[in-house]
Amino acid sequence: MNKIIRKTEELEQWRLELKNDINFIPTMGNLHDGHLKLISTAKSSNCNINLVSIFVNPLQFESKEDLKNYPITIGKDIEIACSAGADAIFIPDRADIYPPNNKSISYLKASKELSSALCGIRREGHFDGVCTVVFRLLKLVQPKNLYLGEKDWQQLLILKNLVLEKKLNVNIISIPTQRDSDGIPLSSRNVHLSNKERKLIRFFSNELLIAKNNFKKEKKINLKEIIQKLSAEKILIEYLDHLHPYTLQNLGADDNISILAGAIRCGKTRLIDHVFLMKRSPIIAIDGPAGSGKSTVTKLIANKLKLLYLDTGAMYRALSWLLLKEKIDYKKETELNHILKDISIVFKSNANSHQDIFINNYCVTEEIRSQEISSIVSKISSIKEVRQLLVEEQRKIGESGGLVAEGRDIGTTVFPDAELKIFLTASINERAKRRKSDKKSKDSQEIDLNKLKELIKKRDFEDSNREISPLIKANDAIEIITDGYSINEVVDKIIDLYNDKIPKEIQIQ
Ligand code: PAF
Repeated sequence: MNKIIRKTEELEQWRLELKNDINFIPTMGNLHDGHLKLISTAKSSNCNINLVSIFVNPLQFESKEDLKNYPITIGKDIEIACSAGADAIFIPDRADIYPPNNKSISYLKASKELSSALCGIRREGHFDGVCTVVFRLLKLVQPKNLYLGEKDWQQLLILKNLVLEKKLNVNIISIPTQRDSDGIPLSSRNVHLSNKERKLIRFFSNELLIAKNNFKKEKKINLKEIIQKLSAEKILIEYLDHLHPYTLQNLGADDNISILAGAIRCGKTRLIDHVFLMKRSPIIAIDGPAGSGKSTVTKLIANKLKLLYLDTGAMYRALSWLLLKEKIDYKKETELNHILKDISIVFKSNANSHQDIFINNYCVTEEIRSQEISSIVSKISSIKEVRQLLVEEQRKIGESGGLVAEGRDIGTTVFPDAELKIFLTASINERAKRRKSDKKSKDSQEIDLNKLKELIKKRDFEDSNREISPLIKANDAIEIITDGYSINEVVDKIIDLYNDKIPKEIQIQ
């Protein structure tokens, strides 16, 4: 039998007796398939206890009328939550959440920047109310994970900001907007819609989806035109804005991902919807010095996130192989330029789901890992013409995004607009130890540890001080020092950062 908890003291007692961590799914009841998806995602992602709360928070309603009309369906909600995998349901009343005369309750203000757009402008105090209740609930429940829907994207950003600001020890996990078969987003307020109103919201949501598809081809949208089309259907638009997806401020010319968000009124009901517009799919850039574990980590990330894996180092190695094979004196500009003129470098997945690299139709996957190539690749990759050509090739491969690239200049030169930039490093000591125990590198196993440290220091110096595309951390890159962490821990950390930044809706396209 699932546990129903009504009082805060009861909740505390229950929590203290638990042996597992808590997944928390806060709701205002009137549960629909969107909530069901939140609960079932929580259930399937770990072995934690799943707690759903049902509390209609008066602080987030601007009008008493709206609060009064909010649908209350507790009996049905308990049934739905349990069937989706809730282990316990917390149904406090108002006096439990906001005990009168209790000075310890913090009435919070939402981030000024994030609430000064979209719904924040039209629903004064709404996000302050959301922050207040969620903060109070988090203090009571103390969950490990908090599950929220991306349908309320602005709310999600504001709550992520709250967790950061208050240094709360909780992970936020989001799920993409759930839509009905006719395309309209699931919402507790949909029950109020008449057939005619439902038709209007369907028109609105479909217009957003059309804009998203057009944007893929044209890389621009015409807001006025969309507003005209909606107005012609007599749809009452509260707002329709095209903004930066994380700051909700105006867009910069180079921004790749943006949000097109709107609110409309259908009779007494107010409905919101949004789509993300993308010039290309997201890119992860992973840079770092030799021996930082980049290749292993990048390959695993590509695999887990189903992204294309771009090993830029392999491209420099393949070119070095060709120059050796063709006995090109790369110091002679004319000879070098001649061979660079007609070069093709392609990656292809092989039967083992690994990647083969071909240069001018030769498969060189194995040969480029020889010591002979290792000894010249650094020199070759610092030649201006080589760098220019391969950076151009890499950009072509990444034109439509959806990839994770590793190298030394990805976040600074190749894809300076990558959505997530990681600078992966480790102490010289750690990198030397890793080299020494690297089974694939027989030469390193035989070298003394102090000598290996010297070699790594020298390589770092060369890579960081070369004139063209030196190894430097991009300003907006997140540095991860991998000393003491396992490969899987580093991979999970980067995937968490990606999930935190990139809306799920975009990830699954
Ligand atoms: O999204 C909701 O249902 C509510 O805003 C929340 C997060 C449960 C807070 O009352």
